[in-house]
Amino acid sequence: MEHRKISRAVISRLPRYHRYLGDLLEEGVERISSNDLSKKMQVTASQIRQDLNNFGGFGQQGYGYNVKYLYTEIGKILGLDKTHNFIIIGAGNLGQALANYASFERSGFILKSLFDVNPRLEGMSIRGVQVRMMDELVDFLGNNDIEIAALTIPKSKAVEVADILVENGIKAIWNFAHTDLTLPKDVVVESVHLSDSLMQLSYNITQKKKLCKTK
Ligand code: NAI
Repeated sequence: MEHRKISRAVISRLPRYHRYLGDLLEEGVERISSNDLSKKMQVTASQIRQDLNNFGGFGQQGYGYNVKYLYTEIGKILGLDKTHNFIIIGAGNLGQALANYASFERSGFILKSLFDVNPRLEGMSIRGVQVRMMDELVDFLGNNDIEIAALTIPKSKAVEVADILVENGIKAIWNFAHTDLTLPKDVVVESVHLSDSLMQLSYNITQKKKLCKTK
């Protein structure tokens, strides 16, 4: 299938489509109309049609969408038809929480190791995955096919560690440290800031309260 250049806004909605379609598959639903999907996801049917048309559309007039096909195709677009080995740098609270989350594996993200500088964590394992010390990192990267590194370390260390990762072949960084990383163009960075989402929630609460007062 030929894909046009897709906007980031559309790409950002694909994981949600994938999640809903996965739920439908589990419920044994074989096909769904854009109207029914729209009700379920609370987005307009025209938005769904527009989004999916970016990929040549997957629906058929009068039939709707084949759930399994759509789920598989969106999975391919998101690169979920392949496995991705990853490591976590920083085995503190957040690093361990990520390592404990088994669902990543179900989506093909395979955690191969965690790394830290704290000698108290040496030899520890989380769901069978070993925590190694940072001085083993370069060798480990040389001997293992690692695609992604999650950064869950203090922001003061993030730039320095990201540079080491990139020098040693890492092409994708899942950055949780609250700092921007300026890296070569062939390296992709996805930054996650849970506090942004919390602030969005706070904004929505504030707006709701204002509305209630004016009523
Ligand atoms: P933590 O203090 O529990 O864990 C940090 C770990 O990094 C420690 O085990 C420490 O030994 C290790 N570390 C420090 N320097 C290192 C280095 N150079 N190389 C390898 N490991 C190193 O902290 P926590 O709560 O896990 O947070 C980690 C980072 O994630 C912080 O920067 C925090 O601000 C950030 N964070 C980001 C969130 C987000 O939504 N983006 C949410 C929560 C935390």
